[in-house]
Amino acid sequence: MNCSVTKIDKETLRERLQRDLGRDPGMLILAYPYARSWTPIPVSAVQEGWRRVDRNGPISLYVHIPFCRQKCAFCDFLAYYGRPTSEIDEYLALLGDELRMVADMTGRLPVEAVQFGGGTPSLLSPEQMASLMDAITTSFRLTDGAEVALEVFPDKNVTSKFLRGWKQAGVNRLSFGIQTFDDAIKQDMGRPDIASENLALIERAIAVGFSNFNVDLMCGVLNQTMESWMATIDLTLRLKPAHICVFPVSVRHPGTHFYDHRSDLPPMETTRRMYDFAVVRLREVGFQRTTKHDFARPGFEYRYERMIAELAPLVGLGANCINYSKDCIYRNHSDLAKYAATLRQGELPVRAGHVFPEEERPHNYAVRNIEYLRLSGKDFADHFGMSLQTAFGVQIALFEELGLARMAGDDLVLTEAGVYSTSAVKRALFHPSAWERFETMKPEEFIIERGVLHE
Ligand SMILES: C[S@@+](CC[C@H](N)C(=O)[O-])C[C@H]1O[C@@H](n2cnc3c(N)ncnc32)[C@H](O)[C@@H]1O
Ligand code: SF4
Repeated sequence: MNCSVTKIDKETLRERLQRDLGRDPGMLILAYPYARSWTPIPVSAVQEGWRRVDRNGPISLYVHIPFCRQKCAFCDFLAYYGRPTSEIDEYLALLGDELRMVADMTGRLPVEAVQFGGGTPSLLSPEQMASLMDAITTSFRLTDGAEVALEVFPDKNVTSKFLRGWKQAGVNRLSFGIQTFDDAIKQDMGRPDIASENLALIERAIAVGFSNFNVDLMCGVLNQTMESWMATIDLTLRLKPAHICVFPVSVRHPGTHFYDHRSDLPPMETTRRMYDFAVVRLREVGFQRTTKHDFARPGFEYRYERMIAELAPLVGLGANCINYSKDCIYRNHSDLAKYAATLRQGELPVRAGHVFPEEERPHNYAVRNIEYLRLSGKDFADHFGMSLQTAFGVQIALFEELGLARMAGDDLVLTEAGVYSTSAVKRALFHPSAWERFETMKPEEFIIERGVLHE
């Protein structure tokens, strides 16, 4: 494909980039362009995006379970808590309806990665998980060796019976939301689990045969010291996980206890030192950093994440989920009542989205690929018929000037500072029209439900 280039003003970009660099180090850009600036999208555009998807290319699938036992002090993900179990059953039935409707539209595409995320998908019993997996394999083709991953809230409710049942249902990767092994800090995070339960659970999981597991850790949280962080890293390594995620805390969105107490968090430089310590320590023991957050032992890269960066299509099932088809992105309703009502009317629960015009496609490609810390000049040229310098000369000059990235041959490679600020780099790669849409919209035009504002 040959694309034209839209020039961006260097000084405007410098101002935006410098503003972003001074922001919250945990800032996550989950979608391009800003989710807030998406507009209502007709079903015909959704259908067209899927019609254009390669029938043989693998896709990934995300299933969102938006229920939790409690609301944690730092969390701004879509999570309803204290809901009766009957509501979870109803939601699972709706997921089944959505799955069938989506598969009617997409056809039985090959799936190489499934992710059950949340919320707390580990609330699902083995029977519920088995019936969801049955529905998925009826509607889609799971490829041989597909990754089937489940996020687990690591408390004592996750028994060996649950673990065995999930494994039998086809789950082959677990991700434990440990955050810290320091019980006092867990309490400040509003987490009811304790370190001894976490350790016992991971031992149970290993005994059941889950060798492919991830541990999520957070740095820069309330009352965390460097010593406490180092002890958490040490204990994590003793468990020999296949993968570790390290998240500097994000407090960008109002509505959390952490946001209200953001001035009490450790200084940004301390959070940075904690992150840097993890990078060095995890490398020493053989982990490879694949993105800012992801550290994998060789052979255990997180496939779901890689597929998203490489623009593989993504079917998102459930409230608030993002979907990517060909040159189209859209998101489901986050409000459970709207999600349910739309499905009950026999319609897809699509809230808003964006169809990429030709001139935005190189930007979308670059924003997604740079997640893996490097943009290949050759791959970019194969897709768009031009070099990275032609497409992003202004951005590259600024990245080099600010020490965020450098050219290595034809490739653009993030420096250590650039890795830490991946999200700021991504925003600098947005098409100027994406900025313009966002900056000229009035707040009442933003597509927001329940204050869920992930960008
Ligand atoms: C989608 S969340 C769900 C995890 C799961 N429900 C749990 O609590 O164990 C995945 C991970 O994102 C990280 N996370 C969530 N909120 C965060 C925040 N405000 N800042 C940084 N990391 C965050 C946590 O490490 C969490 O385990
Ligand atoms: S961190 Fe996990 S368990 Fe806590 S509220 Fe968020 S999604 Fe739920």
